[in-house]
Amino acid sequence: LRGVVALDGPSGTGKTTVARTLAGRLSAGYLDTGAMYRLVTLAVLRSGTDPGDAEAVGHLAHDAEFAIGTDPERPEVRLAGQDVAAEIRGPEVTGAVSAVSAVPQVRELLVARQRRIIADVLAETGGIVVEGRDIGTTVAPESPLKVYLTASAEIRAARRNTQDSAAGRRTSVADARESVERRDRLDSSRAASPLRAAEDAVPVDTSELTIDQVIVALSELACR
Ligand code: C5P
Repeated sequence: LRGVVALDGPSGTGKTTVARTLAGRLSAGYLDTGAMYRLVTLAVLRSGTDPGDAEAVGHLAHDAEFAIGTDPERPEVRLAGQDVAAEIRGPEVTGAVSAVSAVPQVRELLVARQRRIIADVLAETGGIVVEGRDIGTTVAPESPLKVYLTASAEIRAARRNTQDSAAGRRTSVADARESVERRDRLDSSRAASPLRAAEDAVPVDTSELTIDQVIVALSELACR
């Protein structure tokens, strides 16, 4: 793979699995930008800062010491040196991440950092799959391949619920659906870089597709 594959869309569309597997198959790097917003959110929660206090959140984001890896086999996520890969997926972070990621200073800081990481990986391996909400529109609008994954709310809630159960979190499909729809609402209505497809993104509805089918379709697009 040469260049950036921008993979955007709401949660529960299979984005993370697709992005990691695709990056592995194409011997490319991988960047989970959602994990970066989750890391800042965890730092906010740990410090006792109110996620709704934009100014305090902005300051904290500057000071937070976090690290994010780009190996699709083992994407590292650390806060102050500690592995927090499981914790950033928990309900506390998931419940507060939309508020934190709506803060313009947080977005500025993370987008700049994402662009630096992308440039470094491109210099090293030549290709990277980047997943998020604003990759095709804001972070890497020059990407030769932009994909916007969608799926019905029902399917996304069911997938989220399966993931939560696999991670040992007790939830119901109804709770998962409420959480997924709440996050969509907040992520699509914020002023700074709201969730939306880039005009030139290829839309892929994953509702009726297996992960493998999505990966095959995207590999073909990436190698065209
Ligand atoms: O992809 P994931 O569900 O881990 O993303 C968590 C949250 O981070 C999203 O709900 C959204 O609020 C925020 N996010 C964002 N921009 C990105 C990636 C994630 O605002 N590029």
